[in-house]
Formats: sequence, C-alpha cells, structure tokens
Amino acid sequence: MDIHSEKILILDFGSQTTQLIARRIREQKVYCEIHPFHIDLDTIKKMSPKGIILSGGPSSVYDKDAPVSDPGIFELDIPILGICYGAQLMTTQLGGRVERAEKREFGKADLEVQVTSGLFAGMETGDAWHQVWMSHGDRIEELPEGFGVSAISAHSPNAAIRHNNKPLVGVQFHPEVSHTIIGTDVLRNFIFGICNCDPNWTMHSFVESTVKLIKEQVGDGKVICALSGGVDSSVTAALVHKAVGDRLTCIFVDNGLLRTQESGSVMRFFKEKTSLNLIQVEAADSFLSELDGISDPEKKRKLIGYGFIRIFEEEARKVGDAKYLAQGTLYPDVIESVSLKGPSAVIKSHHNVGGLPEDMELKLLEPLRELFKDEVREVGLELGLPEEAIYRQPFPGPGLAIRILGEITRDRLDIIRQADVIVLEEMKRSEMYYNVWQSFAVLLPIQTVGVMGDERTYENVVAIRCVDSKDAMTADWTKLPYDLLGKISNRIINEVRGVNRVVYDISSKPPSTIEWE
Ligand code: XMP
Repeated sequence: MDIHSEKILILDFGSQTTQLIARRIREQKVYCEIHPFHIDLDTIKKMSPKGIILSGGPSSVYDKDAPVSDPGIFELDIPILGICYGAQLMTTQLGGRVERAEKREFGKADLEVQVTSGLFAGMETGDAWHQVWMSHGDRIEELPEGFGVSAISAHSPNAAIRHNNKPLVGVQFHPEVSHTIIGTDVLRNFIFGICNCDPNWTMHSFVESTVKLIKEQVGDGKVICALSGGVDSSVTAALVHKAVGDRLTCIFVDNGLLRTQESGSVMRFFKEKTSLNLIQVEAADSFLSELDGISDPEKKRKLIGYGFIRIFEEEARKVGDAKYLAQGTLYPDVIESVSLKGPSAVIKSHHNVGGLPEDMELKLLEPLRELFKDEVREVGLELGLPEEAIYRQPFPGPGLAIRILGEITRDRLDIIRQADVIVLEEMKRSEMYYNVWQSFAVLLPIQTVGVMGDERTYENVVAIRCVDSKDAMTADWTKLPYDLLGKISNRIINEVRGVNRVVYDISSKPPSTIEWE
C-alpha cells in the first residue's frame, strides 16, 4: 500500500538546495520524495507522481559526464518543473539550445514577469520587478519547439519558460531559496495550479496512515524498538506502540558511550511517563573493548552499528521471536547515506542506515524515514509525548564515541562527560538550550601548553560546538553571547581535570558537518 496517494517527485542532479525544494513543498502540506536523477522510467511510472521537479546541479548540460534523466519523462503527461540545470536539461533534451553565458549570474537578480499565468499566476507583470536568486554559468539561448518565454532578467532572456500546451515549465532562478521573494508563490503555483495537488500531507494523516501500514506489515508478529531516549526513537516507539500495543518491547542499550546519568534518567522517564515495555541492556564493557585502539571515525561507527544489531538480535530471540526491529531513521539520514555518485561520496555512515550488517536477521521498521526532524516533533506532539522528550537536543547514535577524536578510553570518556555536563548546565541556565539545534563538547586529540598557578601544564583541548538548524541538513554556528562562552570555558578549565584550553567552533554546515566525526 502506498500511503502517499499524491506525491511530487524531485529528481536530484546534485544541487546543494535539492533538500530545500523538498522542505518547501512539504511546508505546503504536499508530500514529495527526492530520488537520484538516473531512476528509471518504469519506476517513475509506478510511482505515478502528480508532478516532477528537476533540481539544479553543478554540471553543465554539455559536460562529458553531465547527469541526464530519461527523456521519456516528457512524454508521460505529468507536469514537470525544471529548476536551473533542470530547466537547461529540459531545454536541450527537447531540442533547444543552452550556451555558456557571457555574463554569469550569481546572487540576487530582478525578474520581469511577462506571462501572469502558470508559474506566475497572481503576480504583477511589466515593470514590477521581482527579486530572485540566480546561480548559473550557462543560460537557455534557444527554446525548444512549442515553448515560450514567461519571464526575463537582465542576463537571462529566457529566465522562465513554458510549453504552450503541455504542462512543462522551467525557471533559471531558484524558487526554493529564501532570497527569491516570490519563490513560495512559484512553487505553490506549480504544485496546486499546474499539478492540482491537494494539501493533505499533515502529521495527523501521517500518523493514521502509518499506524495502518505498520499493522498490515507486522500482522500479529512481535517488534522490538531501539530506544535511546532521543526524539526520533521515542516517537518511533510511540507510533509502533499505537499500532501493535504490547507486542512491542523497547530496548535501551547502555553502550558505555552515553552522557552522565543518561541511562538512569531515560529509564526513569519512560517508566514514569509512558506505558511502553522497556528493557535495559548493559553492554558498556563489550562496546568499549571492541573500540579499544580504534581512531578512524567510520570504523567506530560501523563497530557500534554492528554491536547494536547483535544485541537487538539477541534480545529479539529472548522476547519470543520478534521479527521486526523498529528504529528512528529520518529522511536526512537516508539522503546523506545514499549518494548520487556512488559510495565514494557518502558523507558519514549514520549508524542506523549505512552501517547495517548484511546478514542481519531482523526486518527493519523505519516509520519515520520519510520525515524531517521538525515533522517528527509534530508527530510526537500529535501522539501526546511530553514536550521534554520532543524538544530534547539530538544526540547521535554512536554517542560520545564520535565526540572523542582519536582513541576512546575510560579517562577520555570521563573528561568529555564532565565537559558536556557543564555545557548543558550553562545552556539551560541561560535559557539558550531550547533555542539552538545542538550544543555540546568535543575532546580533541591534541595537547597544548598552559600555565596553572606557577606550573606548566600540557593538557587536552575541548572544543564547544553549538549550531542553529532546522533539519540538520544545513547549519549555522550559533553566535553565543561572549559572557556565556566565557563562563563555559572558565568552568571547564577549572572543573575538568586534564583540560587546559577551550575553543569555540565557528564553522557552518556545509562545508563542515555538525559532529566532528
Ligand atoms: P552531521 O554531523 O552529519 O550530523 O552534520 C547531523 C545530525 O545527525 C546527528 N548524527 C547522528 N545521529 N546516528 C544518529 O542517530 C549517527 O551516526 C549520527 N551522526 C550524526 C548529529 O548529532 C546531528 O544532529
């Protein structure tokens, strides 16, 4: 059963803003999915999307290895919107011409709308300029047969194009970015005006259809759920519980990589506030001995992922032959682990996506794998989970292992735990904790010289990472007040033995990632 009776398909040609297109569409309560540009025509037909969006991308359509999708999509009678590279590809595949522009357009540009229907329905025309965001070196020179111009800019005589009687449209600018003031209206005109979608993708409808789907999938079988206490796994557990009730058992693993007092507080919280069956598994010794001497981040992630799965398989047998493992994989994990260009471009193996052993016995149940984090939080509210579970900052599956750069030892775990408590205490005290996406400490694999009292010291460096984000796909470093940073630094250096220097990470994502490993 496909729970999404209506969807927009986004074909990804590698643009940095492809995920933004998806977010903008879902904000309009229309479901959409991103797939690589080379997905085959039959699969697209089976999906029967209400519309297709061809994303932008870094290539030129004339590059030797330029990414191309099956031109058969233009014969499907499904509305198609090409954005930047997507519009140029549509142009060349249908017989038009694209050329390297004499003047490239990067940044803000003024758009003059010439046809106020289709993508520009309801907008002013003529001298009323609209600010849009451009980022292209090539431009559309000659339109394919049957196409006309619907908007121009100073350097793009064909800044927006449309077919005269087929639902094919293209824009040279990026409607998904906030600098394109009319961007939301353009996308709304596409999905509602041209594709005739209904705005029925709400978290209420998601819960209803997902519960039904889980019931069908699981039948009268048993499920175990990997519960970490974070929002993703808590919402997953609540959703699966709604579907299968007591046939769900949640497993909380203490892998020795958790924060101070975390296992106690998670167990207490779920026992007091929910009716979930919850088991705690003590596995610190085995995880830490597996990780002994390992510094490579990917090796750490894979070892931890495998360790988790082995425990879940064992627990599944104990629970009475559970066949399903539910886990809180989200859409960004899926997107970041599946690369357009093959395995070499995978950024990180998120442990619950990229690091699964091939011989795993359990079948996966990942009811949130199509959602962004803010959508998951909405589902949590819909399911009545307490706000303190929903608005907790994310904590990565591999835990402190990826916040200790280099080898993981019990001493280094002690240092990072103490530093982490201080960061969280000060963030909560200053009421910044819930205003930021994440705030945490990272232990670096270097030592620096310091002076304490009259003594020379040669000790560890802790980095503070704090970012603002909407869905972890992109993030900005937070401009924390200096006195708060000063207090955190002072406390760490004074209270955590073995640290004599604190630095603040001022990198954004991209090009950095949020976690350091
Ligand atoms: P990055 O470091 O990739 O992180 O920018 C994006 C978000 O994902 C969290 N994260 C993880 N979560 N398993 C998880 O469950 C993982 O392996 C993992 N790695 C990163 C990270 O904390 C941030 O919120």
